[in-house]
Amino acid sequence: MNVLVTGGLGVNGAWVVRELVAKGVRPVVIENRLDTSLIADIVNQVELAVADITDIACLIRNLKRYDVTHVLHLAALMPDQAQADPLLGFRVNAMGTVNVLEAARIVGVERVVFTSSKGVYGRVRGEHGYPTYRPLNEDYPTNPTNVYDVAKLASEGMGFNYHQNYGLDFIALRFSTIYGPGKLARHGNIAQHSKIIENSMLGKPTNIAQGADERDDMVYVKDVAQGIVRACFARDLQHRVFNIGTGMGTTLVDFANAVRLFYPDASIQLGPGLNYMGGTRGCFVIFDISRARQELGYEPVYDIQDGVEDYVETMKRLNIAPQYTA
Ligand SMILES: NC(=O)c1ccc[n+]([C@@H]2O[C@H](COP(=O)([O-])OP(=O)(O)OC[C@H]3O[C@@H](n4cnc5c(N)ncnc54)[C@H](O)[C@@H]3O)[C@@H](O)[C@H]2O)c1
Repeated sequence: MNVLVTGGLGVNGAWVVRELVAKGVRPVVIENRLDTSLIADIVNQVELAVADITDIACLIRNLKRYDVTHVLHLAALMPDQAQADPLLGFRVNAMGTVNVLEAARIVGVERVVFTSSKGVYGRVRGEHGYPTYRPLNEDYPTNPTNVYDVAKLASEGMGFNYHQNYGLDFIALRFSTIYGPGKLARHGNIAQHSKIIENSMLGKPTNIAQGADERDDMVYVKDVAQGIVRACFARDLQHRVFNIGTGMGTTLVDFANAVRLFYPDASIQLGPGLNYMGGTRGCFVIFDISRARQELGYEPVYDIQDGVEDYVETMKRLNIAPQYTA
């Protein structure tokens, strides 16, 4: 099995790559920027290829060169960036996925695992939203309304098209809210968890104006990596789309309390109300993850306390300086 990871130097990709290395795979990483800080300890155990997913010829060359059998497609622009430049956002996040699928079809790759998002469900109301938050499964209707989320749904649709019409094995994983080291750098306002942890590490105060009453499914990056790698190896699947999260509802107040266990003097002010990320997306849900449990054998292992502890230890171990965010 030869595995290629697009976006393998990113927040999630770094842990996917690390998990593959631990399984004895030497992954190929496709990236358009060569910041290896999140995999500094294993950088000599991966193949690094500078390539852009908008360049299909380059994708084909690399798939052939490394005789790739499985592609884990993580490369994407983040929501704020995609919204600020819709044309670029759709070109990278949707057309980039089509490039990956088409290159995979041409070369004869066996499986593509795509990293989608809870954002495909759009703004969730009624019993699945505040205040009841009934866990939401994969059959809930999709209704994305911004560039990033629309591009995720379009990518899923094209993946299913390649699966049905060209026999390319395709799996889409929809993630809940992810937190993990390195997120602050590219994710802007949606990295509120990183803001709380890293400000506290620096002894600086955190003020988040709104959202203390919102519940959300907050999943640690290593559980996400577990889900992606399980999808890479899984056999005999009944479904092609899976929710990946914790199946638990957590508030930012719970999260701040977990941080205070390690930084008792941390000053964290959280304003009341909903939508702790601000912005217009507002998909705050608790995932029903029973399908992923049954078919992928996925089981989240990090509760927020373990996640916060691992986040801090990882920053220290990889020598990543915490960043202050006002
Ligand atoms: N973090 C979350 O909360 C979350 C939630 C749902 C889904 N996702 C999805 O998971 C995947 C990984 O997200 P992440 O948090 O690790 O993001 P990230 O920004 O840390 O990683 C994405 C990587 O893709 C690379 N990339 C961007 N454009 C590229 C291009 N044109 N060609 C080649 N490489 C390119 C970036 O350099 C980056 O390293 C993404 O598809 C994201 O949409 C993330």
